Amino acid sequence: MGLVHAAKITHVPTIWMSHTIPEFKGLRDSALEGFSKLSATTQAAKVDTFVVMDTHWIVNQGFHLNAKPRHQGNFISHELPHMLSDLAYDYQGDAELSELIVEEVRASGQRAIGHAHPDLGVEYGTLLPMYFINQGSFARVIPVACNQFASMEENRQFGAAIGKAIAKSERRVSLLASGSLSHAFWPNHQSQAGVNAVNGEFNRQMDLRVLDLWQAGRWQEFTDMLPEYAVKCVGECAMADTAMLLGALGWDAYQGKGEIVTPYFGSSGTGQVIVNFPV
Ligand SMILES: [Fe+2]
Repeated sequence: MGLVHAAKITHVPTIWMSHTIPEFKGLRDSALEGFSKLSATTQAAKVDTFVVMDTHWIVNQGFHLNAKPRHQGNFISHELPHMLSDLAYDYQGDAELSELIVEEVRASGQRAIGHAHPDLGVEYGTLLPMYFINQGSFARVIPVACNQFASMEENRQFGAAIGKAIAKSERRVSLLASGSLSHAFWPNHQSQAGVNAVNGEFNRQMDLRVLDLWQAGRWQEFTDMLPEYAVKCVGECAMADTAMLLGALGWDAYQGKGEIVTPYFGSSGTGQVIVNFPV
């Protein structure tokens, strides 16, 4: 069947705090509403597999997918344990589609491996949004790693191969790029005061301009600026998720116009948003 939904999504732990800690209740209602909308959209589209490009699963060589038949456990973030813990999860994996993706990536001339090792966990770039979108575990999940040393062109090609494999598959896939826009955390002493702010007017303005370009469907300009945007605005894992998403959608030839689901917001210095990319 192929790709039936695509989006750029947020995964910030403040969403979990808003959901679980009474004093933070309401803090991230707009993100929670956005996730609810994505849940409804993907269920209506009869999505049966989520492919999540996760900027928190960072790898150093080649491309990797979590091809386990089942993802199950209880998660605490090692980087922000005070913000995100006790996240229980249980999803079916998708070894079959993972294998198709690996084959397609290899055919494109790059290295890819699908892992079914029982000790391989799942990061919160996948788990946090899945908790709210994949309600009742209605769909399978494939976490996809981001290579922090891959070039933008390699990420584009990896995304294109993912798109090709999805198109050849029998699945109805939602492809999610889980990562921020600008990603400049606050210096430690400002981290609590800056919980709802973007670190720096330059980053905020760049993010807002990027969202204008996405909504106008100006992909040629965006893909031209993406490498520099990722560097100057401290992209999360070099904005690999965004490059992969656009790679899957056709890069500068993509015809869609971004649709804001959750308006832009600052979280701990970083710029966050949820945007549908019509397919
Ligand atoms: Fe993150």
